[in-house]
Amino acid sequence: MIPVTKPFLPPKEEYHRYLDGIWERNWLTNNGPLVNELELKLKSHLDVNHLLFTNNGTIAIQIAIKALGLSGEIITTPFSYVATTSSIVWEGCTPVFVDIDPKTLNLDPTKIEEAISPQTSAILATHVYGVPCDVEAIEKIAKKHQLKVIYDGAHAFGVKIKGRSIFEYGDISTCSFHATKVFHTIEGGGVFTKDPELLKRMSYLRNFGHDGFLKFNGVGINGKNSEFHAAMGLVNMNYLADIIAARKLQFHHYLDLLKGLKVKFLDIVGIESYNYAYFPIIFENEGQLEKSMALLSDHEIGSRRYFFPGLNHLDYTSGDTPVSDSISSRVLCLPLYHGLSKEEQKMIARILLRVQNNL
Ligand SMILES: Cc1ncc(COP(=O)(O)O)c(C=O)c1O
Repeated sequence: MIPVTKPFLPPKEEYHRYLDGIWERNWLTNNGPLVNELELKLKSHLDVNHLLFTNNGTIAIQIAIKALGLSGEIITTPFSYVATTSSIVWEGCTPVFVDIDPKTLNLDPTKIEEAISPQTSAILATHVYGVPCDVEAIEKIAKKHQLKVIYDGAHAFGVKIKGRSIFEYGDISTCSFHATKVFHTIEGGGVFTKDPELLKRMSYLRNFGHDGFLKFNGVGINGKNSEFHAAMGLVNMNYLADIIAARKLQFHHYLDLLKGLKVKFLDIVGIESYNYAYFPIIFENEGQLEKSMALLSDHEIGSRRYFFPGLNHLDYTSGDTPVSDSISSRVLCLPLYHGLSKEEQKMIARILLRVQNNL
């Protein structure tokens, strides 16, 4: 069986070493020393101003929306994971879907302005598969219309443009450190901002609104993460360079093996520092995708229609998004994870070429 993804697990002994300290201190959660250590190490590794470690990447988006005091409509992408939309809805706002750019697969800035209404409070865009949004165009529009910007950077750990972390763009960026991500803390996520005031607000929101034991600064949520999750992050950080280097090789190996396949690949040309988070292929039509997925499955090979259906086809329907509809009906993510072998990749490629050539 070749799964579509597999979490990276470091040597058990390295994790165990952190457990001794947790037992000695008897401090399991509530902003413990390992959470602080992880936040400091991530801040330096990613070269960002401020970040907070949260218990997942969904709560991170919800905290961002709450911290910015958003209401009314939020312009967003239909081509993302459901958490991008569910966070908007759970925070009592209305998602307004704008189509995507077929090249980057991200929110198309040229289509944003026509969707802005007097109720619009923000733009929430996803750096899909870790490919950066057109952050400059989005910033221009946001400034002109006085809108806030949140980036869902769940896939974008370690990505840089113009020498800066992608998390430094927008009012707030978020990330997911879920087990299947390039960098993980089992469950986990982060919020990132350049603004110290926003950071303060988010730190209250992450901890129920507590300002000490007896005082509250607004009403928050439980967005904290534990010492056990932080420990996994601290160990995994030591392997980040290896993980990304291995994924880079796998990504290029797929490109070589699949040269003859009539599909479109992710365009990562010009991204200064990329993380090789996913390997999606876009078929010419949905029929080809279905046949390929079925034959892969017959050979016990996982693949995933990520993202399908488009988020504007959930209960919160709005917007005319033909590009997103078309891409989401044709896109398939192939297995990509630490430890996937060249032989396994060859087998996957052979099967895909067999389907194309009707063999
Ligand atoms: C684009 C996107 N946003 C948000 C999330 C939510 O992250 P989490 O699973 O950590 O809550 C995910 C998770 O896969 C995602 O892919």
